[in-house]
Amino acid sequence: MRSLIELIRPEVRNEKPYIVAGAVEVEHKLNQNECPFDIPPDLKKDILESFAKIPFNRYPPAQPHRLVKKLSESLGHPAEGILVGNGSNELTHTLGLCLMSSGSDVVMPRPMFALYESVARLYGATVHGIAPLSDLSFDGDAILKESKRPGVSVTVVTSPNNPTGLSMSFDVIERLCEESAGFVVVDEAYHEFNLEKSAFELLRSYPNLIIIRTLSKAFGLAGVRLGYMMGAPAVMQEFLKARLPFMVDVFAEHVALELLKRPEIVEERVRRMKTGIHEITQALDVMPDVEVVPSQANFVLFRMSVPADVLASQFAKQGVLVRNMSGYPELTGYLRVTTGTDDENKAFFRALDSLRSQL
Ligand SMILES: Cc1ncc(COP(=O)(O)O)c(C=O)c1O
Repeated sequence: MRSLIELIRPEVRNEKPYIVAGAVEVEHKLNQNECPFDIPPDLKKDILESFAKIPFNRYPPAQPHRLVKKLSESLGHPAEGILVGNGSNELTHTLGLCLMSSGSDVVMPRPMFALYESVARLYGATVHGIAPLSDLSFDGDAILKESKRPGVSVTVVTSPNNPTGLSMSFDVIERLCEESAGFVVVDEAYHEFNLEKSAFELLRSYPNLIIIRTLSKAFGLAGVRLGYMMGAPAVMQEFLKARLPFMVDVFAEHVALELLKRPEIVEERVRRMKTGIHEITQALDVMPDVEVVPSQANFVLFRMSVPADVLASQFAKQGVLVRNMSGYPELTGYLRVTTGTDDENKAFFRALDSLRSQL
């Protein structure tokens, strides 16, 4: 068995599997930056009824053309410049396949959504992590300096950033596109919550810019698995050659097409989630024993004087699942809470009050 395992590429053997810690049975699940609202029951019923008419025995198109067309129309970006994936996580392997290999240098700010670093390592690239400033915001100058080096194939940023919730300014993103030696990938999973301008309007001017978005957050389709990548058509058409066919199944495409007909649903949820974030941030901000990072996403990062693992398990005992972020070296002691429904946020505040009263 041992020799078989040794046949597996060392880059793979050296990784850790992606595991989200914590019991799923906990009543209030505020640990994965999900949208707390499911699709309204009437729409869900319509979707399921119309879906029943779609044959299950036939392959979907190799690429989900109808969804690409719809996204192209609603975003105002050419269809040839859009690739849709089985969640945006899945698209990161296309990035890896196209842009990362042994010998390529990849620049990423720290701390950031850990998947990108793992993908870079899996494809054999060398990761250059750029430390944040003392308030956890991006060190724009240091990122720019590093990404200008020849040999850098790609600089990846998530803005707003997960896990900090902080955004990179539009100007810094533009300078990155202008000055970087290679591609600039901006993961905009949380762009609906962002107060900064999206990098979208730079797409026309900078063929090295790639934007990744997901339907898992504001759209609330985390379980359905849909994300997309936008870039210059010539670049995306090259990337298309690295895509597996049939990654988007007929159900996912159908759900997205129906939800995109009802933009008011997503707008309403974003409004409610933004209110939730505002309330959580304000409440934490006035607590003298709590340090809170101002968020432009659907989650808030905070810390108290108690170790994060102890706090996280105390929250869980009170039925509230929050995420311990101490695994990131820069985030020792930090917890991350996603905004939930009003009831879930109340449960979070109740648990927090009770924990603080015991300190
Ligand atoms: C920055 C970022 N990108 C992507 C994702 C995951 O997106 P998807 O569900 O589309 O794979 C997350 C999820 O937490 C995220 O924080």
